[in-house]
Amino acid sequence: MSKIEIKKGDCIKLLKKLKDGSVDMIFADPPYNLSGKSNQTVQSGKPIVCDKGEWDIINDLEEFNNLWIKECIRVLSDNGTIWISGTLHNHPSVGCILKNNNLWIINDIVWYKRNAPPLLSKTRLAPSTELIWLASKSKKYYFDYDLGKILNQGKQMRNLWQINAQRHLTKHPTEKPEHLLERIILLGSKENDLILDPFTGSGTTGVVAKKLNRNFIGFEISDEFVKIAKNRIKDTQDSKDLIFSNKDINNDIALKKSILNYFKK
Ligand SMILES: C[S@@+](CC[C@H](N)C(=O)[O-])C[C@H]1O[C@@H](n2cnc3c(N)ncnc32)[C@H](O)[C@@H]1O
Repeated sequence: MSKIEIKKGDCIKLLKKLKDGSVDMIFADPPYNLSGKSNQTVQSGKPIVCDKGEWDIINDLEEFNNLWIKECIRVLSDNGTIWISGTLHNHPSVGCILKNNNLWIINDIVWYKRNAPPLLSKTRLAPSTELIWLASKSKKYYFDYDLGKILNQGKQMRNLWQINAQRHLTKHPTEKPEHLLERIILLGSKENDLILDPFTGSGTTGVVAKKLNRNFIGFEISDEFVKIAKNRIKDTQDSKDLIFSNKDINNDIALKKSILNYFKK
């Protein structure tokens, strides 16, 4: 059974309590710093100021990213991987910090949300992607290429991932789809590995880690979100139901069989 732990507090402080190299995989969905008067979004077809919450307003983004990323690198095992999501607002800063800390950049993944909301203003293209850096401390890292190929119906998995944004299951404003985390966790970790999420939010990473029989440690600064994440994870069973809820996989008997066989190995 997975060991799941969620701690309330500032991840920069809590990370310092973890031992060097003690974590097998990290997924971080940090504040993108996109909230504020100059940024708009659409809600129920109407333009509104983008306001994800106080937590998404960072005065010195460089300093903040430097502090938490350096700690993540310290706690990551030598053959582990770190996956960090973002948009144009924070992604360049994160990429430079990974490079400056001599990380090996494995991929820049583009997550394409075909069902992203339209843009009402006519001044730019409608944003429909998020970006994910995948990096490691050395060129010898754990990565399940074969499972990626099976999940991609026998073809090499590419770095453009089309995964729809899903209807939120909680009140958290930036909850990630479980299917996105499922893919990341399957490619980047093995059963019983320890996965860390320093910005747990509603607990999506923990939920999927539990379903896939991984151990999990998550940090979250807000009391409200800690409560949401803990309840959500408590109600989660260890099962592969997510994978088979994908119609393309479930309707393809041969593919379903090869995935089941792969998990039995
Ligand atoms: C982008 S959201 C993560 C959403 C999450 N991936 C999910 O699926 O629900 C970022 C989260 O980090 C939390 N946060 C912001 N600064 C933090 C810090 N210094 N330490 C810990 N958590 C923090 C916020 O409260 C927010 O819930």
